[in-house]
Amino acid sequence: MNLLDGKLVSAKIKEDIKVEAAAFTAASGRKPHLVAILVGNDGGSETYVASKMRNCELVGFDSTNIRYDVDITEEQLIAKIKEINVDPTIDGLIVQLPLPKHIDPDKITEAIDYRKDVDGFHPINLGRMQRNLPCFIPATPYGILLMLAHYGIDTAGKKAVVVGRSNIVGSPMSILLARNSNPGNCTVTLTHSRTQNLAEEVLQADIIVAAIGKKNFVTADMVKPGAIVIDVGINREDSTETKSGFKLYGDVDFDNVAEKASWITPVPGGVGLMTIVGLLKNTLEAAKGTIYG
Ligand SMILES: NC(=O)c1ccc[n+]([C@@H]2O[C@H](COP(=O)([O-])OP(=O)(O)OC[C@H]3O[C@@H](n4cnc5c(N)ncnc54)[C@H](OP(=O)(O)O)[C@@H]3O)[C@@H](O)[C@H]2O)c1
Repeated sequence: MNLLDGKLVSAKIKEDIKVEAAAFTAASGRKPHLVAILVGNDGGSETYVASKMRNCELVGFDSTNIRYDVDITEEQLIAKIKEINVDPTIDGLIVQLPLPKHIDPDKITEAIDYRKDVDGFHPINLGRMQRNLPCFIPATPYGILLMLAHYGIDTAGKKAVVVGRSNIVGSPMSILLARNSNPGNCTVTLTHSRTQNLAEEVLQADIIVAAIGKKNFVTADMVKPGAIVIDVGINREDSTETKSGFKLYGDVDFDNVAEKASWITPVPGGVGLMTIVGLLKNTLEAAKGTIYG
C-alpha cells in the first residue's frame, strides 16, 4: 500500500501558490482576496471556514470572513452577494454549506457571479466543466485530480466507481474522471443510495471514490486487490482522546482496506487538505483572470 499523502502534496502545491501570489501582488499592488460567508454556528462549517482563512494568509492572500446569524433572510444574503459581485477588490466568494433550511442553496449559488465562484458550484462553471472548457472546478474533485496528477497515477482506461452523487463531490467527480483529459479517461459508474448490489459494483473498481458521509462504509470485502482508494468522507465523532474534543473518520475502513489497496488517502491528512488547495488555486486564477479575464 502507498499513501496518497495530502499533507505532503498540499504543502508542496501551497509553496507554488505562494510564489505565484507574490508575483501577482508585486504586479498588481494588491493580494488575491477570498471572501467566505458563514451563516449560523455549525461546528464543522466553522472549522472549515477557519481553515480556509488560515490557508489564505499562509499563501499571501487576503481573506475576509463575513458571519451572519442563522435568521438572516435569503433576500438579505443575496443582497450581500450582489454587493460582493461588483466589488473589484474581491476575487473569490464562497458561501459555506449547509445553509439553514429557509435559504435555498441553489438560489444562493446562482446569485454568485460565476467569475467569482471559486467553489465551482455555479451552473455556468459546471456546464463548462462538463464541456472540458476552462472553468472553476469544484474544490474537492479538483484537489483529488491534483493529488492523482502529483503521484503520476495513470487513470486512462481504468474503471472508476464513485459512491455518492452530491453536487459538490460525487457528481462532478464522476464527470471529471470520465472526461477526455489527464487525469480522466476512466469508465465511470456513479452510485448512490438507490444503487442495486453496490458492493459488487465497488468490487469491480480500479479506482474507488467514497463520498457518502458514513464512517467505515467501504469495507475490505468491497475492494479489489490493487485498487486506488480515495476517501472523501469526513465524519466527526466526539472524543475525549483529542484536544479538539472530536475525532475524524473517513467513509473507508482504512486499516483493513489499506492492506488491499495499491494507493489510499488517509482521513485526516488526505482529501480535506487537497480541497483547500483546490480552493486556493481557483482563487488565484480568479485574481489573475486566467479563466474569464
Ligand atoms: N474532504 C473534503 O474536503 C470534503 C468535502 C466535501 C464533503 N466531504 C465529506 O464527504 C462526505 C460526503 O459529502 P457530500 O456533501 O457529498 O454528501 P451528501 O450530499 O450527503 O451526499 C451523500 C451521497 O451518498 C449517498 N449515499 C448515502 N447513503 C448511501 C448508501 N447507503 N449507499 C449508497 N450511497 C449512499 C447519497 O445517495 P442519494 O443521493 O441517493 O441520497 C448521496 O448521493 C461527507 O462525510 C462530507 O463531510 C468532505
